Amino acid sequence: MNAATKQSQSAISLDQFLALPDFEPAAKQVLPHPVYEYIASGAGNEITLTDNERAYDRIRIWPRVLNDVRSVDTTVSLFGKTLVSPIILAPAAYQGAMHPLGERATVRGAGRAGIPFVVSTNTTVAIEELIKEARAPLWFQLYTQNDRKITENLIGRVETAGCEGICVTADTPVLGVRTRQLRAGFQLPPGVSTPHNVRGGGASGNMDPSLHSPLQWEDIAWLRSLVRTKLWLKGILHPDDADRAINLGVDGIMVSNHGARNLDTMPATIDLLPAIHERVAGRVPVIVDGGIRRGTDVLKALMRGATAVMIGRPYLYALAVGGEDGVARCIDLLTRELTYVLRLVGQASVKKLDRSLEWPPLG
Ligand SMILES: Cc1cc2nc3c(=O)[nH]c(=O)nc-3n(C[C@H](O)[C@H](O)[C@H](O)COP(=O)(O)O)c2cc1C
Repeated sequence: MNAATKQSQSAISLDQFLALPDFEPAAKQVLPHPVYEYIASGAGNEITLTDNERAYDRIRIWPRVLNDVRSVDTTVSLFGKTLVSPIILAPAAYQGAMHPLGERATVRGAGRAGIPFVVSTNTTVAIEELIKEARAPLWFQLYTQNDRKITENLIGRVETAGCEGICVTADTPVLGVRTRQLRAGFQLPPGVSTPHNVRGGGASGNMDPSLHSPLQWEDIAWLRSLVRTKLWLKGILHPDDADRAINLGVDGIMVSNHGARNLDTMPATIDLLPAIHERVAGRVPVIVDGGIRRGTDVLKALMRGATAVMIGRPYLYALAVGGEDGVARCIDLLTRELTYVLRLVGQASVKKLDRSLEWPPLG
């Protein structure tokens, strides 16, 4: 077992997990301390890490009653395709450190729920292996490398394998100041490697800056010319950047602060979403991530203009405690909460959510 877990993951009954926050303490028990810290920590003093969640708590929902909510519709449409729910698994590196089957277990769990999984460049299982297991769309998160040929080949490889989208992470010119992660001394466990980032994966789990120079706007046009599937830009936090990205032809925007792992004291993503939604004005879909833990959080993100949301840490903790079953349970719990919440606010479809459900009323 390369994840060197402290207790058998299969010994844990998943019935005890009733909500996403339940997975973290259990994962802390089973994971080696540095791996737990790698997942849990944020940048700097973790002000944004806390705020990503607290900002959802500050939003108040203003429900309506007596509407017909006997059946609720959680499906969303993305580029003409129907997704069973607005929930997507965010890209996260090094899952082989969290569970012996790594991303393979995540793909299976996502497939059972029928939701997309965004595979990190720093996956520990090659994309061709993951595609064989996939029962739902796979997208690929791209960190570019200085050698443009490597990036070109990688895009070709993952698209040929069957990935339906390329999500370029724009918010990581360098890794953040992750003091807590450094203190814990996170290293990739022996036997765990990153097949798509062979030269830059690094045993420390960090990217080698000599191989990854910061992306610039000019590079987006180059990437646009290469990507034949859908091109997403992840890490957009300013309406002007969203506008510029759309003018360069990206197909979708991901409002993300990288789970508060890069720059500390940024605002929470849910607080930035309305201004970006307003500027995007329906030209492309907008996805938001960071701090989503409850069905009410998903509802609030959709109320504020997101087409879909991504979750990160919760499914990684679920992966650590239960592998494929854990991931499936995590998604199921969140989706089920969303269906309850929809009924309770008096809205039968996720497609019809807007800020009329927010208290106090706008304007
Ligand atoms: C352990 C871990 C590894 C991550 N690795 C990547 C990555 O390789 N590429 C990327 O674009 N984002 C990465 N992220 C950020 C996530 O894609 C996502 O933006 C974030 O986790 C969402 O916030 P949440 O964890 O509060 O749900 C990572 C996040 C975590 C927790």
